[in-house]
Amino acid sequence: KRVLSVASEAVPLLKTGGLADVVGALPGALAGQGWEMRVLMPAYRSLRGGIADWPVLWREADLFGGPGEVRGGRVAGMEVLLLDAPHFFDRAGGPYSGPEGDWPDNPERFAALCWAAAMLAEEGLADGWRPDLVHAHDWQAGLAPAYIAYHGRAVPTVLTIHNIAFQGFAPADRLARLRLPGDQFHSGALEYYGGISALKAGLVTADRITTVSPRYAEELMRPEFGMGLEGVIAERAADVSGILNGVDTAVWSPEAGDAPYSLRSLKGKAAARAALCAEFGLEVPGPLAIVVSRLTDQKGIDLIPPVAADFVAQGGGLLVLGSGDPGLEGAMQALAAAHPGRVAVRIGYDEALSRRMFAGGDAVLVPSRFEPCGLTQMYGLRFGTLPVVSAVGGLADTVISASPVALAAGVATGIVFHPTDAMALGRALGRLCDLHGQPKLWPAMMKAAMRQDLGWEASASAYAALYEGLLR
Ligand code: ADP
Ligand code: GLC
Repeated sequence: KRVLSVASEAVPLLKTGGLADVVGALPGALAGQGWEMRVLMPAYRSLRGGIADWPVLWREADLFGGPGEVRGGRVAGMEVLLLDAPHFFDRAGGPYSGPEGDWPDNPERFAALCWAAAMLAEEGLADGWRPDLVHAHDWQAGLAPAYIAYHGRAVPTVLTIHNIAFQGFAPADRLARLRLPGDQFHSGALEYYGGISALKAGLVTADRITTVSPRYAEELMRPEFGMGLEGVIAERAADVSGILNGVDTAVWSPEAGDAPYSLRSLKGKAAARAALCAEFGLEVPGPLAIVVSRLTDQKGIDLIPPVAADFVAQGGGLLVLGSGDPGLEGAMQALAAAHPGRVAVRIGYDEALSRRMFAGGDAVLVPSRFEPCGLTQMYGLRFGTLPVVSAVGGLADTVISASPVALAAGVATGIVFHPTDAMALGRALGRLCDLHGQPKLWPAMMKAAMRQDLGWEASASAYAALYEGLLR
């Protein structure tokens, strides 16, 4: 059984966020379920160099204004199909934006990816491979189910929403240019606030819709979280399900670092913490909280400065790694300047450092306003670096808060606060200091966290069951 996964990023080829981790992990996870998955994504400039000798498996002479070719190869054990369309993807800059902001031709760029996906599903590849099913991720792949539906539904389709904040909007006058049927331009189908939304197109045409946590599936049907698409999703409620992401437990393991530790022996964690504090000149008597995040409004980073002084006064320390919104970067740097020895900040993207932080931290803060799944709280659980999270989406689905009953039952793994505001975060950090100071409770919580099963197995079998249901 064959499935074509369509996305704009995948580890190890290109990553801007958790989407890439998930798209890169699914083929391996699903192989164990008897599904052969190939991943189709754009051949961005950084990837073109490696594919010159890969065979061409599909081509179209005029793919929205230039030639397009799909080449196939293997990368880190993953079957990859790269869409080489230089007029869209061979440019300096990021996958979605350049120096002047979002690429103005993003609607066409990702429509081209989706068009290729639909053609591969209809015609198959030159090597004889043809998918039994197409699995599209986020708005960049949203038009794939739409093209497939409008061309007679050659194969069933699944659309996964990783983040509804990005909807792939295009002005209405691009309809024909995007090869979309004019008679579908109405509010029950493609039309969205007077224009076209690639995500909505996928939501109304895919056979099944999934979100990356069960809680997010429910949230998305409400105006607080649906970002305008709540009605569209609620209408399809019977076809919507939440399947929690997993993490690569071999890579994200406390046994893999320089100061290894495990459920059986936590000793190495103290060494990892000491090394991390030395690296950043920190001396922290209470809990050392880490943040590894895009610095954006979604992530609630602006809630940290108002509560930092209190946290520091109670003995806490803070280490932040991230980049994004310049205002938030500045606010983090100001915190470090105000609390030398207690708060440190590294602006940038650094996976090796992030690993040292998960190993050496006591807690990981994720105060998101919305969080479809979230991976860093799961890394925290793996490392016994207890998550302090807001009660939204995948955060609420993965962390058991230290309530009196959960503590008594020995199952608490972190602190879940509500609502997502500075007052609640401040109280959660106070509670963190209190729990961290309790020599029996704290290690018991660490162990409960580290025992949690976060691998891909359960999710992969849920996806496999969904796929099988569609083939029947
Ligand atoms: P999102 O996709 O919304 O950014 P996730 O928690 O799903 O949130 O995934 C973020 C991923 O990016 C995680 O693997 C996280 O460790 C990683 N990450 C985010 N910021 C950084 C950074 N500055 N340095 C290293 N890794 C980062
Ligand atoms: C998105 C979400 C994040 C999720 C990731 C992978 O980037 O913001 O919560 O973990 O996708 O599904």
